[in-house]
Amino acid sequence: MTYIAKDYSKLIGIEGFSETLLKNHFTLYQGYVTNTNKVLDTLRQMLKDGKTGIPEFAELKRRVGWEFNGMRLHEYYFENLGGKEEINEEGRLYRKIIEEFGSYEIWEKDFKAIGTMRGIGWVILYQDIFNGGLINFWINEHDVSHPSGCNPILIMDVFEHAYMIDYGLKKSEYIEAFFKNINWSAPEARLK
Ligand SMILES: [Fe+2]
Repeated sequence: MTYIAKDYSKLIGIEGFSETLLKNHFTLYQGYVTNTNKVLDTLRQMLKDGKTGIPEFAELKRRVGWEFNGMRLHEYYFENLGGKEEINEEGRLYRKIIEEFGSYEIWEKDFKAIGTMRGIGWVILYQDIFNGGLINFWINEHDVSHPSGCNPILIMDVFEHAYMIDYGLKKSEYIEAFFKNINWSAPEARLK
């Protein structure tokens, strides 16, 4: 299986995100796709050549989660951008958020607070596929601490490359811009 980088150039022009920032971010994402393919190809070749016992095999196996999630998390992120409307208050996601958090505002406060924590990473609203519950998570590295059996619903990139070109250290201003541009139909469709 070869992964192909998706084209998110339709996002260019959204308010609060400069073309320079977005183009840099797309390039970075394309690098993850390229490296995912490279690492997976190399591992397949090593398997064919009977080289599974060598340290390089183990190190690449450890590495692939970083590249793969770096690719996939960016896809979730770009796909939940580009909207202009508020969350649909008649929709399932809105109702589910209220059921879980008490109000939309409480959920949003939690999600934004996680985003302003020091450090680089991702803020992810997950749905536990076993009980349907929603939970906001801080994910520090692509390959670490993702909750098993949970499905990403809404993803916000808070690595410095996601905002510093436009906002410097004003991460909270970036988070406000992110919220203004959420394409709510994406998380709505991800909800089970
Ligand atoms: Fe990113």
